Amino acid sequence: FATYYYKEIRTPIFEETALFARSMGKSSDVVQKQMLNLAAQNKDDGDAIVLSGLSLRPENTASVVRSYIENRLDKVENLSKLFYCGAQFRGERPQKGRLRQFHQIGVEVIGVDSNLPFIDAEVISLSVNYLKSLGLNKFKLKINTLGSQEDKASFSKTLREKIKPQLSDYCQECQNRFDRNIFRILDCKNESCKKLVAQLELSYDHLSENSQLHFAQVQKALDALDIAYEVDPFLVRGLDYYTHTVFELSDASLGSQDALGAGGRYNNLVKQLGGPEVDAVGFALGVERILLALDEDVKDVPTIAPLEVFIVTLDDESYKKGFEILNTLRQNGVSSDINHKISSMKSQMRLANKTAARFCMIIGEAELKEGVVVLKDMQAGEQERLSVVDLVNKFKS
Ligand code: HAM
Repeated sequence: FATYYYKEIRTPIFEETALFARSMGKSSDVVQKQMLNLAAQNKDDGDAIVLSGLSLRPENTASVVRSYIENRLDKVENLSKLFYCGAQFRGERPQKGRLRQFHQIGVEVIGVDSNLPFIDAEVISLSVNYLKSLGLNKFKLKINTLGSQEDKASFSKTLREKIKPQLSDYCQECQNRFDRNIFRILDCKNESCKKLVAQLELSYDHLSENSQLHFAQVQKALDALDIAYEVDPFLVRGLDYYTHTVFELSDASLGSQDALGAGGRYNNLVKQLGGPEVDAVGFALGVERILLALDEDVKDVPTIAPLEVFIVTLDDESYKKGFEILNTLRQNGVSSDINHKISSMKSQMRLANKTAARFCMIIGEAELKEGVVVLKDMQAGEQERLSVVDLVNKFKS
């Protein structure tokens, strides 16, 4: 994110329930079925704070927009490029890749200058390059456009006309969605609904010229960035706030929960939540799903930086000295650790090997007397005796 010059934003774990209903839409599946509301506390418990009307956040876009408005970020900069990473909560039936508490890494670009097709392309390329940087390469990018708010309204009218004659053949859930949230019918997982949906002939006729142009330019910008994608007119996304470009990254190896992440443009949300008239676009990736895909795909999962020095001491006095040296090394930026439980040299060396530290530092009675330490290079197998000052200097240089 630093490479793309995005700055971090952290918002609270819970917000007013109304914020989520107003942004994602009252009829979205998340608001209808998956919100985790904080119950009002019993007033009899003394002066307990009443927490009614608040919910654990099911996603972060609404919170970021709330914070953008409240902190008047539009007065600070023309274009706010923000990223986040944090826990989200949805009341789901837990299964592989679908959790009640999960984590998202995402970005939101908000500002007057954001309604440019190149910004959609930047956001999409950031999500793609992020996944690639982790070593994933089998995922697919699908994109689509919903057009402006007016285009969306005319699309939902057309869809209703197309679906109505066969509505009774759709599942009960889809029949409920017909009035409530017609777009959701397009990504129903029910096999017979899928077949019916596949027969619908969708076009982009409902789009205004401007919307068509925006979408064409997004595709050109993606081509220029050499990002592979598939245009999927059936991709609609389940949240109300989207307009124009929407996209999804999916990995077939994950089975039924195959979306690694998704996002899109939401040009009306900031105004709708009481903020200035600015446009926005963003995405969120599911961390646990990325981890599942990495398990399938990548042998060499990135871990924290390897340890440089592991300290082994042979008695109580040398342990105290070792503990002091550990602190000095750490203050000098050398990643280091000590074995806190003194045992035989052999078993401690086994531990040192297990940490895969580059160096093992050993202190025993003799070293303590001489005021030196033994530093063993675990790769080269060589060792030397050094004073603590020389040791620190060696790592500094
Ligand atoms: P979303 O599609 O609801 O979009 O979620 C994004 C990603 O979060 C999903 O693709 C999935 O990887 C992960 N995810 C969602 N629910 C779960 C769950 N129950 N368990 C595990 N992972 C899950 C959003 O949240 C939008 N806020 C994205 C966005 C940002 N649009 C614009 N800006």
